[in-house]
Amino acid sequence: MTIEIQSLTLAYDENLILSDCNLRLTEGEILVILGPSGCGKTTLLRAIAGFVKPDFGSIQLNGRSLDNLQPEERNIGMLLQRPVLFPHKDVLGNILFAYRKKKDRKMKEVNEIMQDMGIYEMRNQAIETLSGGEAQRVVLARALLTNPELLLLDEPLSSLDLNVRRQLASEIRATLKSKNIAAIHVTHDHEEAEIIGDRIIHWSELHLLESE
Ligand SMILES: Nc1ncnc2c1ncn2[C@@H]1O[C@H](COP(=O)(O)OP(=O)(O)OP(=O)(O)O)[C@@H](O)[C@H]1O
Ligand SMILES: [Mg+2]
Repeated sequence: MTIEIQSLTLAYDENLILSDCNLRLTEGEILVILGPSGCGKTTLLRAIAGFVKPDFGSIQLNGRSLDNLQPEERNIGMLLQRPVLFPHKDVLGNILFAYRKKKDRKMKEVNEIMQDMGIYEMRNQAIETLSGGEAQRVVLARALLTNPELLLLDEPLSSLDLNVRRQLASEIRATLKSKNIAAIHVTHDHEEAEIIGDRIIHWSELHLLESE
């Protein structure tokens, strides 16, 4: 078991967004959750990452409770719809942010991940010169360098052209599989879900899944 979510419930004021959600991922599993706009996908991922506190329920990651941990203590990586990068640093400068301390930097690892993600040749380029797909590759490389126990993917491909989206979806899958990293990917795109996921569920199934 990688992650186990039990009875997760969250309301914004009177609006119940997450209602008794249950979810389990096996080791290295890639789960895709399909759901329409506004159903609560981002809210679920933010709750898992620790950016918003649920009203009820518990989350365990590899046997340890996340309930009282800050986001930076959870060892979870997250990719958003729009890549978040430092505009005044180049590609390499952004990737090095994976390391909190300079002395922890392992350049062999950095170079390998840049090769894997096909961005090695761009390492000295300014962020503004990258395409949307290239920018997501940089974000993914940076996230992977932190050795996350779980990766959360919040529609990171939705603003890309169809061909780029397909290509990057299959590369993300291959990369996660080669590193045996579990992931939860949310999207409303069926084709993307088929390419990336080991298992696909619909949003409405979240509160139906047995907690036992
Ligand atoms: N901080 C907040 N305060 C109040 N309501 C919020 C907040 N964040 C989101 N909501 C509401 O919660 C609901 C779910 O939002 P959320 O962003 O999780 O949906 P989503 O499935 O990610 O949508 P999309 O597919 O458009 O990204 C929406 O009705 C949204 O307006
Ligand atoms: Mg969203």
